[in-house]
Amino acid sequence: MLQSAWYIIQAIMTTESITITRPDDWHLHLRDGDILKSVAPFTAKQFQRAIVMPNLVPAITTVRQAVDYLDRILAAVEGTDFEPLMTLYLTDNTPAEEIVAAHKSCFIKGVKLYPAGATTNSDDGVTDIHRCYPTLEEMQRAGLPLLVHGEVTDSEVDVFDREKVFIERVLIPLIDTFPNLKIVFEHITTADAVDFVMESGPRVGATVTAHHLLYNRNAMFDGGIRPHHYCLPVLKRERHRRALLEAIASGNSKFFLGTDSAPHAKSRKESDCGCAGIFSAHAAIELYATIFDDIGALDRLEAFASFFGPDFYGLPRNNKTITLDKIAQTIPDSYPMADQSVVPLMAGQTIPWKIKSNHDK
Ligand code: NCD
Ligand code: ZN
Repeated sequence: MLQSAWYIIQAIMTTESITITRPDDWHLHLRDGDILKSVAPFTAKQFQRAIVMPNLVPAITTVRQAVDYLDRILAAVEGTDFEPLMTLYLTDNTPAEEIVAAHKSCFIKGVKLYPAGATTNSDDGVTDIHRCYPTLEEMQRAGLPLLVHGEVTDSEVDVFDREKVFIERVLIPLIDTFPNLKIVFEHITTADAVDFVMESGPRVGATVTAHHLLYNRNAMFDGGIRPHHYCLPVLKRERHRRALLEAIASGNSKFFLGTDSAPHAKSRKESDCGCAGIFSAHAAIELYATIFDDIGALDRLEAFASFFGPDFYGLPRNNKTITLDKIAQTIPDSYPMADQSVVPLMAGQTIPWKIKSNHDK
């Protein structure tokens, strides 16, 4: 009896923990309605702010729609101080005046470029970037970042090459035309994207997801087809995963945290045409801590998760903290989501880090 109490005390005393400035998620899907109510609290419990993607149906293309969506998100996280940072969905016809209004609104922090048909709910996306040039001109003037889903949709291009081809066909010409436009290359997956971001000027940054750091493409075919490891951009080869790990370990401020947590009901993933998207909001910061710890770069986690993002967006860093303990936790097989369920990343597996508490600095 006494002995076991001693072991418990020892375990508490020797638990490794880290305290970092409260992080932000610079790429997040919160959905709407009852799904929003189910998933938003996961994010609010660990992140201070999040850039909320606008790919609802219908898409959030106007400031008016963004205000209403913001209200629904705030209702879903009532009782927390979570701050949603809203985005507009760029279409072929987004008027430059909408950008002016977005900039004035103060709560819209970016405009999302989805090439039409590239991913979930992207049917209203851009068919030809040249059509958006007057709008991009206005964004450049306003300093409003363009958030890019960087994949071509050309069916002739192999699905594993779509990011690389997008850099060549779209991003390089775009930067030539708009050298002062702030661009976030979202959820990068390849060594090509890492090189491109590093070689570009200070106005080009990138978000990196936990799942692209944790897994290579084998994870989609591990003993059978694994729909819960299917997302877009799709997981890539091991050498690309290693390039992403090197990028975050390097402490380069162009790379920052963006989960791309994208919940879909279990039944919509486990289907003959399963949706793209991985839900990681349930344990996002713990997963990133696990990754940084694994590569011996835990001291670089805070800057990646809490400094580089706000610095890029020109926003203040948070002044609260979050503490993580090196205590194992087992991820549930699923979580309730509206009247269905969602399968989280690493379902049923144990990860070594766990959030302790939030408190003022
Ligand atoms: C996202 C979704 O489900 O909204 N899916 C995904 O695989 N990441 C859309 C996106 O960001 O591509
Ligand atoms: Zn996304």
